[in-house]
Amino acid sequence: MGEPADLVALSGGHTVGRARCDFFRDRMRRQDDTFSRKLAVNCSKDPNRLQNLDVITPDAFDNAYYIALTNNQGVFTSDMALIKDRTTAPIVRQFAKDKAAFFTQFVKSMVKLSKVQRPGGNVGEIRRSCFRTNGQNLVDAVAGDEEGFAASA
Ligand code: HEM
Repeated sequence: MGEPADLVALSGGHTVGRARCDFFRDRMRRQDDTFSRKLAVNCSKDPNRLQNLDVITPDAFDNAYYIALTNNQGVFTSDMALIKDRTTAPIVRQFAKDKAAFFTQFVKSMVKLSKVQRPGGNVGEIRRSCFRTNGQNLVDAVAGDEEGFAASA
């Protein structure tokens, strides 16, 4: 499989973890379905509140994130895009049905990602802060408050 499979499999990282409510304000405002209203209820009190990214099994690394997508229950616009797009939707449905297929592709795509070379970035480096390469020391100096996010992601 090619790049669309990489995109779908890597987004499967959202099978675990949580997001701060203000990351998906757009989705709550634009859509009026039951799921979006549920998100809005969780988030109405405080924009810093957390929302599970995989609404079925939030703490298990499995394929339930894709099952949720087939039920239109993706939290981010980028999650929902995977089930709305004609190229990626069949891959989402395949991973929803076949956990082993997701695991196999996730391994391949993570290894491929680790080999991506970009200006200013080392190949395969593990970032101290998720938001910038380790080479960008100047900004690292003021990024102490992001360490917690990097460690949890
Ligand atoms: C289209 C690409 C992606 C977008 C737009 C995206 C966006 C986001 C956003 C906005 C958050 C919430 C951050 C917060 O609230 O502080 C998040 C969390 C997370 N993302 Fe992604 N992400 C993408 C791809 C990935 C990939 C490739 C992985 C891993 C392979 C991944 C793994 C995670 C995890 C584990 C969390 C939860 C962090 C935690 O609970 O501490 N994401 N993502």
